Amino acid sequence: MEVKILSAKFDIEDSHKLEIAKQHGAYATIDKLFAMKPEEVIEEVKNSGLRGRGGAGFPAGVKWGFLPKGTGKPVYLAVNSDESEPATFKDRYILVKDPHMMIEGIIICSYAIGSHDTYIYIRGEYTSQVKALQAAIDEAYEAGYLGKTVAGHDFKLEVTVHRGAGAYVCGEETGLLESIEGKKGQPRAKPPFPAVSGLYGCPTIINNVQSIASLPFILEKGAEAYKAYGTEKSSGTHLFGISGHVEKPGMYELPLGLPLLEVVEKVAGGVWKGRKLKGVIPGGSSTPVLTPEEAKTVTLDYESMAEHKTMFGSGGIVVLDETVDMVKLVENLIYFYHHESCGQCTPCREGLGWMLKIIKKVVRGEGEMSDIDLLSELCDNIEMKTVCVLSAACTMPVRSYLTKFRHEFDAYVSEGASTAAANQE
Ligand SMILES: Cc1cc2nc3c(=O)[nH]c(=O)nc-3n(C[C@H](O)[C@H](O)[C@H](O)COP(=O)(O)O)c2cc1C
Repeated sequence: MEVKILSAKFDIEDSHKLEIAKQHGAYATIDKLFAMKPEEVIEEVKNSGLRGRGGAGFPAGVKWGFLPKGTGKPVYLAVNSDESEPATFKDRYILVKDPHMMIEGIIICSYAIGSHDTYIYIRGEYTSQVKALQAAIDEAYEAGYLGKTVAGHDFKLEVTVHRGAGAYVCGEETGLLESIEGKKGQPRAKPPFPAVSGLYGCPTIINNVQSIASLPFILEKGAEAYKAYGTEKSSGTHLFGISGHVEKPGMYELPLGLPLLEVVEKVAGGVWKGRKLKGVIPGGSSTPVLTPEEAKTVTLDYESMAEHKTMFGSGGIVVLDETVDMVKLVENLIYFYHHESCGQCTPCREGLGWMLKIIKKVVRGEGEMSDIDLLSELCDNIEMKTVCVLSAACTMPVRSYLTKFRHEFDAYVSEGASTAAANQE
């Protein structure tokens, strides 16, 4: 089931070094790139069907096409390397094992959108990843792939690494821009969208690390070769992070569209310790949970996830076995999102705090039945009433647990916390 496109060099020793990466095809697309017109590159990426791998799944080529022409302002590229969604651990592999694939992708994207300045926004906690990335950028400058000319072509390109300070909300694209500008990482109201007014008020494209790293393959082999993987509307491959209660957790590159349970069984070794499956979080903590019944029919692509009222998200799959206490899981979830709220919108700042108080009361065994309904009501009242979707990233999954595992929340109220918790063990 596994394929090796993005991960082709991951198993090669010292693949992060320019010399080794070049022996295995790095920067092979550069001459082809500069022989093409920027519009042709955008068209190729559009035809490949590549969708943004940061969570929203927006088609990359289409987004690039939104840039206004002839503004006289510089165009910026910001590569989103914040990777802060819990259960997501794919971009770090690219940063450490094949950073030159991403730098090559940056060159491709920059040429296509007419940008000469890239900012890579990397999460503060990624210490070793920052080192690896900066070393690769330094090598690329030294070898002439970055700087005043790109591999001898009349195209200037500067790449700057900007470290975050450890805030989930700075992964949201406009929070990220604020942070690069040196301000508090508080997302901006949209419109205007970054393509029109982004970094320093200039047209800006923001793409995830994996989206950018997918470009060399698309340019080298062509859109059709990329589309040979995946489904009609969800093309290509993805670096799935599979964690939780499986025998073989890890990062696996797979084509999109495979049946979720088959992947859990055949790739990740199945639910660990011979236990039963209780649920699957399909794409990072912000995606609604699937019951075992739902997991039977879902496939790993954007459309199937939407049909099952959840999301592909970042492709961070978490397998939950029968021992998981969904009430405590929800407490943990709300704690995280409340902690990470930037505080600018009242429904998020106050609402998530209120939800946390309620769930803590339930976990202590002091909850009333009306508290569970109040939690659902709060989800409805918070969602989509804020500048960004951080609060929805909390309420959407919480609602799914409340609906699909309601009996567990009720048990905490009717049986008392210790009995209810013991029943989950
Ligand atoms: C609260 C929040 C956190 C996010 N965190 C990340 C992140 O860590 N990495 C990422 O690539 N996208 C993240 N996103 C999505 C970005 O806003 C944006 O959609 C993405 O970087 C666009 O790139 P793509 O089109 O290549 O996916 C986050 C969104 C929200 C609302």
